[in-house]
Amino acid sequence: MELRGASALVTGAGRGIGRAIARGLAAAGASVTAVSRTAAELEALAGEITGQGGRATAFPGDVRDPGVCAAAVARAVEAHGGLQILVNNAGVGSHAPVIETSDEEWDRVFDTNLTAVFRLTRAALPYLTRGGGHIFMISSLAGTNPIAGMAAYCASKAALDHFAHCLMLEVRQQGVKVTTIAPGSVATGFGGEGDKAESWKLQPGDVADTIVDLLRTRDAAHLSRVEMRPLRPPKRA
Ligand SMILES: NC(=O)c1ccc[n+]([C@@H]2O[C@H](COP(=O)([O-])OP(=O)(O)OC[C@H]3O[C@@H](n4cnc5c(N)ncnc54)[C@H](OP(=O)(O)O)[C@@H]3O)[C@@H](O)[C@H]2O)c1
Repeated sequence: MELRGASALVTGAGRGIGRAIARGLAAAGASVTAVSRTAAELEALAGEITGQGGRATAFPGDVRDPGVCAAAVARAVEAHGGLQILVNNAGVGSHAPVIETSDEEWDRVFDTNLTAVFRLTRAALPYLTRGGGHIFMISSLAGTNPIAGMAAYCASKAALDHFAHCLMLEVRQQGVKVTTIAPGSVATGFGGEGDKAESWKLQPGDVADTIVDLLRTRDAAHLSRVEMRPLRPPKRA
């Protein structure tokens, strides 16, 4: 895909992996619509990108709100003349044994990690099918590797993987690529852990670089799933 002038919507763009993806896409010439709940983080990001000569629109909102999903897509189209790239990155973790998982916590995880992705994707598809588009799902190795004490999170990412695979089969003939990216540990503040900058971890920019590389693959070639791992994680005792 020609990235210069392409319009991209990135959820969870205020910090962590999403911010790196927004920066990477903007540096490659795309116009970025950045979505998350914390307006100040989005404004800072948009200011940084426009200050470097790029194009960015901040769209604060909670992706669990169906109206926000539709309005974010509409804003991207209005601000940047269309939509070619959707990065479903916003996600939340959850650490609790099943017996201690409340209905509210289960819904928070599934509404963010799965249902919002469905709604954003459905709203974006009419634009992505006009001349080619690319949807990225930021999943996790937790979608295929079960973890005790993280059932809600692992199940949400497993469901996301399957949703993405079905979608890929559904839209490929319309020229829309769907790629699931499943990282292992990335150095972000994910799960409220504070900024964990351990050098052995993947960096947010590694995921961003992968997305830019995937967007530059030949139109007729499609990588539908990428698993990313730190090369040298600490050995388990
Ligand atoms: N870090 C890892 O080790 C790792 C590994 C594998 C996969 N992942 C996946 O990568 C994605 C990004 O994770 P990260 O590590 O970058 O996490 P992060 O640093 O916690 O950032 C998450 C981003 O998502 C936004 N967000 C969360 N809930 C939202 C909501 N309801 N509506 C709108 N935005 C929302 C947050 O902003 P607000 O709170 O301001 O809304 C923030 O910008 C997630 O899907 C995660 O599952 C992470």
